[in-house]
Amino acid sequence: MNNEQVKTRVEELQAILSEHNHRYYVLDDPMISDAEYDRLFRELQDIERAHPELLQSNSQTKRVGGAVLDEFSTLEHRIPMLSLGNALNENELREFYQRLRKLSKLDDLELVGEPKLDGLGVELIYRKGKFEAGATRGDGYTGEDITENLKTIPQIPMDLHGTDIPELLEVRGEVIISKKNFKKLNAERENSEEKLFANPRNAAAGSLRQLDSKITAKRPLEIFIYAPGKIEGYEYSTQWELLEQLKLWGFPLNPFNKILKNENDTIKYFHSMEADRESMPYDIDGIVVKVNNLALQSSLGMRTRTPRWAIAGKFKARQEITRIESIVAQVGRTGVLTPVANLGPVQLGGVVVSRATLHNQDEIDRKDIRVGDWVVIERAGDVIPKVIKVIKERRPKHTEPYHLPDTCPVCGAKVQRVEGGVAVKCVHRDCPAQLKTGIEHFVSKRAMNIDGMGEKIVDQLVDEGLINSVADIYNLQFKDLVALERFGEKSVNNLLRSIKASKKRSLANVIYALGIPNVGEYLARVLAEKFESLEKLFETKQETLVDIDDIGEIVAESIISFANDPDNRKMLEVLMEHGIDPKAGETGEQPLKGKTFVFTGSLEKITRDVAKDLVRNLGAKASESVSAKTDYVVSGESSGSKLEKAKELGVKIMDEEEFISFIKEFNIEILESEDQMKLF
Ligand code: IVH
Repeated sequence: MNNEQVKTRVEELQAILSEHNHRYYVLDDPMISDAEYDRLFRELQDIERAHPELLQSNSQTKRVGGAVLDEFSTLEHRIPMLSLGNALNENELREFYQRLRKLSKLDDLELVGEPKLDGLGVELIYRKGKFEAGATRGDGYTGEDITENLKTIPQIPMDLHGTDIPELLEVRGEVIISKKNFKKLNAERENSEEKLFANPRNAAAGSLRQLDSKITAKRPLEIFIYAPGKIEGYEYSTQWELLEQLKLWGFPLNPFNKILKNENDTIKYFHSMEADRESMPYDIDGIVVKVNNLALQSSLGMRTRTPRWAIAGKFKARQEITRIESIVAQVGRTGVLTPVANLGPVQLGGVVVSRATLHNQDEIDRKDIRVGDWVVIERAGDVIPKVIKVIKERRPKHTEPYHLPDTCPVCGAKVQRVEGGVAVKCVHRDCPAQLKTGIEHFVSKRAMNIDGMGEKIVDQLVDEGLINSVADIYNLQFKDLVALERFGEKSVNNLLRSIKASKKRSLANVIYALGIPNVGEYLARVLAEKFESLEKLFETKQETLVDIDDIGEIVAESIISFANDPDNRKMLEVLMEHGIDPKAGETGEQPLKGKTFVFTGSLEKITRDVAKDLVRNLGAKASESVSAKTDYVVSGESSGSKLEKAKELGVKIMDEEEFISFIKEFNIEILESEDQMKLF
């Protein structure tokens, strides 16, 4: 073949592969066998290898992932990606409809009803019909450039099909993982002792925010398109017309989208989707209804952050009634005892629930929760259910109030109430529960990132006496490990490789891994910036520490007492002998570095402290007062002067819901506490 012929063949292969992708993944109507597809794919790969000049940036071969990025760059949305107001029940949905009627002076308005998909909002940008870039929703104004990851989603067309291709086409949609694929993915992760995803949305978020698109390519991501961004060179007059056109251009549209002619239709759609919720192949948390007519949409206009012409009709949180069979106290890394209720198993939103956290003694006292009680539990789309209330009328005779034990359920040592707090703690330094959870923390992804050392393996290693402190991990030998149950030669080698690789972790990662009480990821980064090495940190003085902005007396004390502990000094020595001696410089992933948040008003779903921790873990600062330096104000109910000031200064404002969906885009592994977990 001469050059011209090769070029023609590349074009041909791109078109054929694109067509077959579309038929297979969007239309569910394949025309060729997998083997045939692979043959064509490999032919294209071979040509691209031999003729790198013919490699297109959105080639079909890019769908298997490419180079690993250092970080995501940002992408500004030409039109902000807004959020929606909520209607929490049928009545509020009717009120929305009445409002539309009044504002438009029309009796019946046509709406489009769509399922509210519980995934991640993204934007896709096409220029002259070619996929150019894509981004997360981010804060609504700016998202992260996840172009390479989006290319790996086979449903997303790289070239638009059909005719009348616009100069610029931006579309928005939701990236999801189906319930079935989520189960499969988690089962695989369980097998390889990787941390499980809490729910399909987290799995989708974690997969989309991979710096290595080859990993994303292996995740079963899907997408549905539902909204326009900026469009140049195509005119339309209704949402439905746009959806139909998007279908022709090759985008996957949700099959449950429906035209709703009047109020009655709207209410029927809401109830029928709610009834179908459990049997849907993916998670939905409500419906979205949008005024169909575009001219009407623009005359209805916007509120500050939400359109007047659309609303989300949210489904009820899923509640069930079950019995508390027993309450056990679990001992965490810091020795804190957490009461956990074992429940009579019940189906709740498609999963069987048999445990719920009871948080602490105060929570138990406040709700008067007892063993034997019938309780209402709720899962608000998430995994960890909570006990909403006790049904006192059904309380059996002779129940007793529950009290956390006086002694540690693992080592038997006496527990202590943490000063000023509600927590009860085992302070026995050799408690195996603490050792185990301490090791689990040490090896976790955002700490030393040692793969292949899940909970069961850690149990085994501690029980067999192979590990008595985290430093012992670096003494593990092939011969010790291969003799253990669950270990084959291959998994031993993988583990040893991963242990070796962990010696290169950044200073911030290592400080975080040490598990110094009160030092989470954010403070670990602060310390890593301040001190050049582990040694310097261990030599520091109280005065130096309290001089650091984010560090108060309590944290300073806890660092000093950790550093002065002879066992910890010994551990440091051994770690350094093994070559773990990172120097300052690299500080890990901080997608919100340099940003400042101010929280004002009362938040409903999370406490302000939890919210602050969340942004700090991502590298941002949480500040108390609004100034020109503030990047975001998160405003809850009845927020006053701070909100006014933010408006005056033109600072970006988010409500709680927007803040939560913003945070949810970042990988689940930023979550540290159970309170944060509850959210997701
Ligand atoms: S339309 C102005 N349609 O819900 C209209 N959003 O709070 C903006 N979502 O973050 C969005 N399904 O990620 C729209 N069928 C649907 C949706 C949908 C899920 C998400 C979206 C956004 C949030 C809106």
